[in-house]
Amino acid sequence: MPTTKKQGNTNTAKGEIAPAKGKLGIMIPGMGAVATTFVAGVEAVRKGISSPIGSLTQMGTIRLGKRTEGRFPKINEFVPLAGLNDLVFTGWDIFEDNMYSAARNAGVLEVSLLDQVKPFLSKIKPRKAVFDNNYVKRLDGPNVKKGKNKMELAEQLRDDIRDFRKSSGADRLVMIWCASTETFIEAGPVHQSVTAFEKGLRANHENIAPSMIYAYAALKEGVPFANGAPNLTVDIPVMHDLSKQMEAPICGKDYKTGQTLIKTILAPGFKARMIGLNGWFSTNILGNRDGEVLDDPGSFKTKEESKLSVLEHILQPELYPELYGNICHKVRINYYPPRGDNKEGWDNIDIFGWLGYPMQIKVDFLCRDSILAAPIVLDLVLFLDLAKRSSELRGIGIQEWLSFYFKSPMTAPGLYPEHDLFIQSMKLKNTLRHLKGEEMITHLGLEYYD
Ligand SMILES: NC(=O)c1ccc[n+]([C@@H]2O[C@H](COP(=O)([O-])OP(=O)(O)OC[C@H]3O[C@@H](n4cnc5c(N)ncnc54)[C@H](O)[C@@H]3O)[C@@H](O)[C@H]2O)c1
Repeated sequence: MPTTKKQGNTNTAKGEIAPAKGKLGIMIPGMGAVATTFVAGVEAVRKGISSPIGSLTQMGTIRLGKRTEGRFPKINEFVPLAGLNDLVFTGWDIFEDNMYSAARNAGVLEVSLLDQVKPFLSKIKPRKAVFDNNYVKRLDGPNVKKGKNKMELAEQLRDDIRDFRKSSGADRLVMIWCASTETFIEAGPVHQSVTAFEKGLRANHENIAPSMIYAYAALKEGVPFANGAPNLTVDIPVMHDLSKQMEAPICGKDYKTGQTLIKTILAPGFKARMIGLNGWFSTNILGNRDGEVLDDPGSFKTKEESKLSVLEHILQPELYPELYGNICHKVRINYYPPRGDNKEGWDNIDIFGWLGYPMQIKVDFLCRDSILAAPIVLDLVLFLDLAKRSSELRGIGIQEWLSFYFKSPMTAPGLYPEHDLFIQSMKLKNTLRHLKGEEMITHLGLEYYD
């Protein structure tokens, strides 16, 4: 059904949004801590056991029109999003554990909660993964596909996608990467075009990572893809092109949780008040499988690149050399098994104020990574599905309006990313207003004083 144009509004709805009817199938490479916390959480919410805290799509509202109009609908009533009861799930992993056992191993949620959703979780068994130990050095597992070359593996993933579409009765699908962080690679010639990439798949090119094979398979099947890890994956020209061609929206990279979330909350505040920064030292201890993978220098380098870029983009040292021209920014992740998923992140922030007088801020964040990541996964799959149903968004490729959820937001080539959480939030909400033909909110507000 077309979006209705709002009467008496100068803006008109852009294009149409198809209704969210039928089931939405969520396909997850990597059934570890984040994926199981997400799926168990959705089922717990559906059963009325828990609340979807941290999820903008489930709890957020959006202001429409003037402050005097008092219009604040819930986001999921304003735009047509799939309902939680319509979500169905599948996934891939190199280990054979079903989602219940995987959730028990991850140790994020309490056994008493998991046991209440056990029948549901136990039924979700991982499909055989596309995996290459050269890309994730610290892991190896038995549940892995075999094929003559990477194109054959991509074909097997496409079969999985078609099989799930049929067996689950899903009307629409979304794929979201929740697997381990792959080793650092840079975009090369093989990533520049669909022709080069497909040739590379057939020739087993070493610069085609497993995550790219999943993304290729998804996009070829017209399925939107979100990248929750810092791997290149869909941030290469071939995927931008395929995404547009196949009208399968993409977004990434690296869920913005924990320390980076706090950084993108604090740094815009310093800049807004013209407070200077000399240095920011961030260190973490964490003991989950993600921490173990990141203990490998190759995987850590991928993560480090993603974490370091944040401050520079928020603080714009080229515009404010006196305040931010000489920042020492360091990020450390230490694998410390006793902590499990309950990591601890310390920040020492050296700032300076009026006349250059120095001050310090210390942050000690005892956070739970997967508890912060799960609602992001939920919002991303629902919003990507919305993008796919929107005639205006489905063909544009990168969904920059979803930057809000990422440490390293993808943008059109040549454009710098917005990292400031509050700009990202405004961008997201204005995109929703725009889709529905509502006025943008600029916060100018002079009309109240006419
Ligand atoms: N938890 C957070 O706050 C957070 C934030 C940002 C990014 N991430 C990223 O999300 C991802 C998942 O995190 P996690 O804590 O769930 O990690 P995890 O180690 O618990 O789970 C990852 C799972 O992926 C599987 N896997 C690895 N390679 C695979 C492949 N090629 N195909 C299928 N499965 C594969 C592993 O066997 C494992 O079960 C990681 O890349 C992590 O860096 C997490």
